[in-house]
Amino acid sequence: MIEYRVDLRSDTVTKPSAAMRRAMAEADVGDDWFGTDPTVNRLQERAAEAVGKEAALYVPTGTMANQIGLRLHFRGTGHFVVAERSSHVASTEVTSSAVLSGIAFKTVAGDPRGRMEPADVAAALEDDALYGVDVADLVSVENTHGHSGGTVLSVEDLRAIRKVADEARVPIHLDGARIFNAAAAAGLDVTEWTREVDTMMFCVSKGLGAPVGSLVCGPADLMAEARRLKFLFGGGWRQAGILAAAGLVALEVGPGRLHEDHERARRLAEGVAEVVPGGIDPETVETNMVYVDTEPVGMTPLQAIGRLEDEGVGATLVSGKVRMVTHVDIADADVDAAIAAWRAIVAG
Ligand SMILES: Cc1ncc(COP(=O)(O)O)c(C=O)c1O
Repeated sequence: MIEYRVDLRSDTVTKPSAAMRRAMAEADVGDDWFGTDPTVNRLQERAAEAVGKEAALYVPTGTMANQIGLRLHFRGTGHFVVAERSSHVASTEVTSSAVLSGIAFKTVAGDPRGRMEPADVAAALEDDALYGVDVADLVSVENTHGHSGGTVLSVEDLRAIRKVADEARVPIHLDGARIFNAAAAAGLDVTEWTREVDTMMFCVSKGLGAPVGSLVCGPADLMAEARRLKFLFGGGWRQAGILAAAGLVALEVGPGRLHEDHERARRLAEGVAEVVPGGIDPETVETNMVYVDTEPVGMTPLQAIGRLEDEGVGATLVSGKVRMVTHVDIADADVDAAIAAWRAIVAG
C-alpha cells in the first residue's frame, strides 16, 4: 500500500478528528431502518436546518444521495435529466442512473467553469413537439463543479437556470456535494442557493471532514419517498448513528474552516505555477481544487502523478489534468512539501 506524506487525491481522504472519534465512541444509537437512531435523526434535523429545507435523509454516499434525488423527480423510464456534460451525475454516475432508474441524460456543454448557458438549458428542456418522444423531467446542477476545477455556480446563474426550469415546469436537483465550499468562497449562506432548488444533497464526507455520509434534503413529503428509495437502493444501515455522530461534528465545525483549504489551494497553485509555467493560472482556483496541465513540462498527467507518488504526494487524474485537493488534514507545511515535490519532478 502506498503511504502518502501529503495526500491531495481528494477531500474524501480525511481521517476523523479526535472530537469526531470521541463523539462516535459515545454515540447513542438505534436502528435507522426503523427510523429510531437518535443520532441519525439529530444529524438529519441539523442538516435540514442548515440548508433551509423541511427534511433531510442521511445516506451512505454522495452517489446514493444523488441517485435518490434524481429518482424522486423522475416520471418514466427513458425520460431525460438535463445536466452539464461533465457534472458528476452525467459522467461518473451515468451508469448508476441507467441501471437503478432507467434515466437517460440530455447533456449541455458548459463553459470552462462548468457553467451552463440558460438558453442551452431551455433548449434541452424544450418539448419535442414534432415527434412527442423526448421528455425531460428534471434539471440537475452541481456546486461546486468538480470536474471544472471546483468552481462556484453563482446565485445569479442558478436563478437564471431556475427561471428557464420554471418556464418548462421542471424541478431542479442540486448536487451540492461541496456546496459549503461554494458558500465559503462566495461569503454567502448556503440557503442562497438551496432556496432556488427543489431537492439537494451535500456530503459531510468531503470538505466538512466526516468519514462517511451524505444528506438528501427537500420537502417533507419528498423525503418520505426518499426514505423508501434509500431502502430500495440498499441503504438501510442500522446503527448508523456511530457515523452520524462524526457527521454532526463535521457540520458544526467544518463550514467555518473551509476558507483555510481555499487559501492553501491558491498558495499551492501559485507555487506549482512557478514550477510549471503555463500549467495553471492560480486565479482560476476558486475553492479547494488545483488542476495542473503537465504538457508545458513534457509529461503526461499519469507520468506526473507517478513521479509525485514517488515523492510521497498523492494526486489524481481528472479531466485530463493532475488534480490536487486541499482538505482538513493538509497544513501549510504540506503545501510547501507538495510544491517541493513538483520542483523535484520537473527538475527530473
Ligand atoms: C460533485 C460530486 N457529486 C457526487 C459525488 C459522489 O460522492 P460519493 O463518492 O460519496 O459517492 C462526488 C464524489 O466525488 C462528487 O465530486
